[in-house]
Amino acid sequence: MTLQIFRTKQVVSDDPESALLKRCLSKWDLAFLGIGAIIGTGIFVLTGIAAATQSGPAVVLSFVIAGFACTFAALSYAELSAAIGGCGSAYGYSYAAFGELTAWIIGWDLLLEYGISVAAVANGWSGYFNNALTAIGLPLPDALTKAPKLGGYINLPASAIILLLMMLLIIGVKQSAKANNAMVFVKLTTIIIFIAVAFFNVNPDNWHPFMPFGWFQSLPDGKTTGVLAGASIVFFAYVGFDAVSTAAEEAQDPQRDLPFGIVTSLLFCTIIYIIVSALLTGVVPYTELNVSSPVAHALTLLGHTWASALISTGVIAGLTTVMLVLYYGLTRIIFAMSRDGLLSPFFSEVNETTQTPVRVIVICGVIMALIAGFMPLGDLAELVNIGTLAAFVLVCFGVIALRITQPDLHRPFRSPFSPLFPVLGMLSCGALMAFLPGLTWLRFIIWLTLGLIVYFVYSINHSKLAADKN
Ligand code: ALA
Repeated sequence: MTLQIFRTKQVVSDDPESALLKRCLSKWDLAFLGIGAIIGTGIFVLTGIAAATQSGPAVVLSFVIAGFACTFAALSYAELSAAIGGCGSAYGYSYAAFGELTAWIIGWDLLLEYGISVAAVANGWSGYFNNALTAIGLPLPDALTKAPKLGGYINLPASAIILLLMMLLIIGVKQSAKANNAMVFVKLTTIIIFIAVAFFNVNPDNWHPFMPFGWFQSLPDGKTTGVLAGASIVFFAYVGFDAVSTAAEEAQDPQRDLPFGIVTSLLFCTIIYIIVSALLTGVVPYTELNVSSPVAHALTLLGHTWASALISTGVIAGLTTVMLVLYYGLTRIIFAMSRDGLLSPFFSEVNETTQTPVRVIVICGVIMALIAGFMPLGDLAELVNIGTLAAFVLVCFGVIALRITQPDLHRPFRSPFSPLFPVLGMLSCGALMAFLPGLTWLRFIIWLTLGLIVYFVYSINHSKLAADKN
């Protein structure tokens, strides 16, 4: 199964072996896949941080704003995934719409999105894990659960969980739609418990002041605050709906079902996020929420320790699958780029014994474990967001470009009100990028520059796709 998953990422090369893939995923499996990849650290951790430091109770507005930007982008993803197909993902679409250089930039950008996402979700996982240890009287010291910037030495649980997942991936974890559906069920149950308990404990006074930090402010330390800055942080909660498009070759009827899976999972999560963030800031003052496990913490403050413990367990399980899916995604993208010749073939070698691309898994695992141990969640999430938003801008632009350059392309799904919606997608995602701090921009630009150097030094001379064309 592991190898099969790696084969789903055919991007734009025609591998006859892809015929071996089973088209076994129904439209609901795809929607569940999306929900499995979407709901994670964003809602369970960042909601608290954003409420306490950027949006106040208006974090609910931050979710609405980020949700709108994602909806426009999702409709563009839906159009391109149905029309271009293949293994999907922005890398493949950019290849079709703009050619190799842009595709490379997006592929490189996706490495950042997926790789740093895993490190960020591991940080969220660590917060809830330590919360659970504390509940049984075995708390880890701050020095071992916080990055140096937050006063510790290393976030050890965050690094450790990534290394553990690395070993699972090497030996070949059987990841099936059924297992994913079960985990989604656990996550949703966790959320339903929270909603049920929180609903009866809302104190409307907690919603005042509603917007203590205003819409947007740049702070002297280079950070940003306000509802719009909050939107650019909680955007992280939506990252992952694009993962649905990577299952294109395993979908029963991709042209019909991918748009359904993408749009349904996104709309469902948006509604859940609005409800949860409104309740979270309604049950405790927003100032109490700047902790590593805010949803459980809020229930503990209300005296519902049993519900808090249940939620921590559900979140720990739920976040593990998010990491697994994103880690898979990362190795698949590298695998595909390597097979296309844009990265060295060193990365696409599959180990004969385990039948998994061990090298990629180990290299990514070690790098991500180091990043997760030493960088705090906020910085990581911002970096993921800027990378993902850039990919979304290009996907929206791709819809417009392809409508002009290939007007006759068969489009089983069309983004409504084109070009208005794709343009709104570009503007809203671009604006969310603009609300991110300067340091995040600098890190992003350094990453892209590095990518361009790799492209012009290596990839351009080794591209198999360019060679095939000539
Ligand atoms: N959307 C995913 C999360 O919130 C990445 O963890």
